[in-house]
Amino acid sequence: MSVKIKTNYAMPFLSEGEVSAFQQKITDAHKALHEKTGAGNDFTGWVDLPVDYDKEEFARIKAAAEKIKKNNEVLIVIGIGGSYLGARAVIEFIKGQCYNAMADDCAKIYFSGNSISSSSFAEILHIIKDKDFAVNVISKSGTTTEPAIAFRMLRELLIERYGKEGAADRIYVTTDKAKGTLKAFADKEGYETFVVPDDVGGRYSVLTAVGLLPIAAAGIDIDALMEGAAEAREKLMPTSIEENDCYKYVAVRNALYNKGLKSEMFVSYEPCFTMMNEWLKQLFGESEGKENKGLFPTSAIFSTDLHSLGQYIQEGERILFESVVTFDKPRAEIYLKEDSENVDGLNFLAGKSMAFVNEKAFQGTVLAHNDGGVPNIIIENEDMKEKTLGYLIYFFEKACAVSGYVLGINPFDQPGVESYKRNMFALLGKPGYEKEKEALELRLNK
Ligand code: PA5
Repeated sequence: MSVKIKTNYAMPFLSEGEVSAFQQKITDAHKALHEKTGAGNDFTGWVDLPVDYDKEEFARIKAAAEKIKKNNEVLIVIGIGGSYLGARAVIEFIKGQCYNAMADDCAKIYFSGNSISSSSFAEILHIIKDKDFAVNVISKSGTTTEPAIAFRMLRELLIERYGKEGAADRIYVTTDKAKGTLKAFADKEGYETFVVPDDVGGRYSVLTAVGLLPIAAAGIDIDALMEGAAEAREKLMPTSIEENDCYKYVAVRNALYNKGLKSEMFVSYEPCFTMMNEWLKQLFGESEGKENKGLFPTSAIFSTDLHSLGQYIQEGERILFESVVTFDKPRAEIYLKEDSENVDGLNFLAGKSMAFVNEKAFQGTVLAHNDGGVPNIIIENEDMKEKTLGYLIYFFEKACAVSGYVLGINPFDQPGVESYKRNMFALLGKPGYEKEKEALELRLNK
């Protein structure tokens, strides 16, 4: 199993030299990552995580998932950013976008605390009004406002419904192993806790308890997911662009960026990849967007978005390239039949599978977009199973980290995320922010 990079729809826009020019930088970045000498090296625990993880906790995750499934119809997963996107992305990809409607032998999973929208929170309250539910609150810092608000309210509801002890039996906390108010609170209340490792940042944490508990509760094979990641860890070691498809991808995307294409559009022909696109946007956007540098990550699902964004991609400003993630084997083979009346004129497709039609849409689009001046990198996968996804997740994490080093930034911090928080706290009147409050209100009232 592997992820294969096809560059023949990108190379017409690049010379061999423009790609190979990245070899030395990639070799250096690889060394910095594996020898832990690069910027942010305290956050490279994800590199060996697929083999070097806490096996006792892994077993506890499986046991907790079984208990959640047995005693509850619904699991509410509270978290934001890296503490939410990975789990949702994996669940939607493996189980499909309608997973809750099809969740016969596992918990229905809903996500909360990823916004401050009361309209959205009201939907959650409506869903659980007559259903047994459990909560998995996930926050590495334990202090993030969005999840903290949702947790406060859902905890109150659990206590109201099941009493303090009953609530404690339904609350699972994933946070730092020792630091933070959430950890202290969980210990005091007797909630079961899982660990966000010190050396793994939010957007690289999907293969820790952060992602694995909700993923397991959704009935997904987390052993296979880890096996895929472990295989990627082993196979993506060569430093040569020619031998390592992860680094080939890094070289080509950076060469396209150097040519003035400032945006990378992640594309899939599978709607269940929608949240994987969101995960990718966080991974690359939060890692690379620093010091006025970095590709702007965007995304599309085709053929859906060919009927909306397609016009811009074909004929708008030439600012982007596409990274198209494909899967050879669909999850289901469905065939078109002959129709005696042929009112829709589709009898020429009788006997053909939908996957075949989707494939032709992909081929036609790649060529059309190339004609329109849009390079395409093709990221090929064999199937849509857990093991393949685990491999793909690790592939992108490594590509992102190495790309960040090639770009000359720290791919593991996110200093820019603090700015909105400071303003929000000041405007809310949080103690200690009095001076900022005054200055901000003056600006708002201008
Ligand atoms: O990738 C990141 O580090 C962020 O997206 C965080 O995961 C996000 O801000 C949530 O932080 P926390 O887990 O501390 O609540």
